[in-house]
Amino acid sequence: MRIYREKDYDAMSRRAAHVMAAEIIHRPDCVLGLATGSTPIGMYKQLIQWNKAGDITFKEVRTVNLDEYKGLSPEHDQGYRYFMQKQLFDHVDILPENTRVPDGLAADADAECAAYDAYIRSLGGIDLQLLGVGHNGHIGFNEPADVFVTPTHVVDLTERTIDANARFFATRDDVPRQAFTMGIGPIMAAKKILLIASGEEKAEAVYNTICGAVDPHCQGSILQLHPDVVMVADEAALSKVIAAGVKV
Ligand code: GLP
Repeated sequence: MRIYREKDYDAMSRRAAHVMAAEIIHRPDCVLGLATGSTPIGMYKQLIQWNKAGDITFKEVRTVNLDEYKGLSPEHDQGYRYFMQKQLFDHVDILPENTRVPDGLAADADAECAAYDAYIRSLGGIDLQLLGVGHNGHIGFNEPADVFVTPTHVVDLTERTIDANARFFATRDDVPRQAFTMGIGPIMAAKKILLIASGEEKAEAVYNTICGAVDPHCQGSILQLHPDVVMVADEAALSKVIAAGVKV
């Protein structure tokens, strides 16, 4: 795992944008696995700027998102399809038909999960998968569990995740209790992974992810077994790793 230690959120965002832009430049029709949450917003802003300046183009890029709340429509302002439109897709030259987010309203959840994995396979897998990390070490919405679940599936969100994401909803009761998430299978099958983290509140999850035992109770720890992970994090997020004497 290559670790880029950056001084703050802005530097982290810029470095992460460089890694993603490099992939797009190197492989214009690449398949990007994308993530939501607060962490990638700065990175998306930078990519939008470079796209507007003509430095990168998304014209042939295909994207698959990691997850979506079950029960939220694409227009729901806390849904992840809506997030992607507002934070990236509406501002770059990507073709709408080349973007995919799990359908939160799918009547048949199992069929949606199977179709999602089949779609990723039809693209030839993911070239670069972007990942944030949850406070409990989740990646996508793969919550702490006794096992790593391979395919895309529906997950029950933990109380900790509901608490963490409640800040975006009017009330805690509005946070959906379930979500669709890409499983560990397609994530680990991605050719390259870009893991990003910012802030002191992620320090423990980052430590467990990159220094802890490979354990499904910290789902991010499986990334230690992936051959090509680039982690970009700010000093606050790396503080526990640095304190443990790991050279980053
Ligand atoms: C969310 C998402 C993840 C995200 C993580 C961290 O619940 N399901 O894909 O990476 O939690 O979010 P944030 O970047 O807001 O801290």
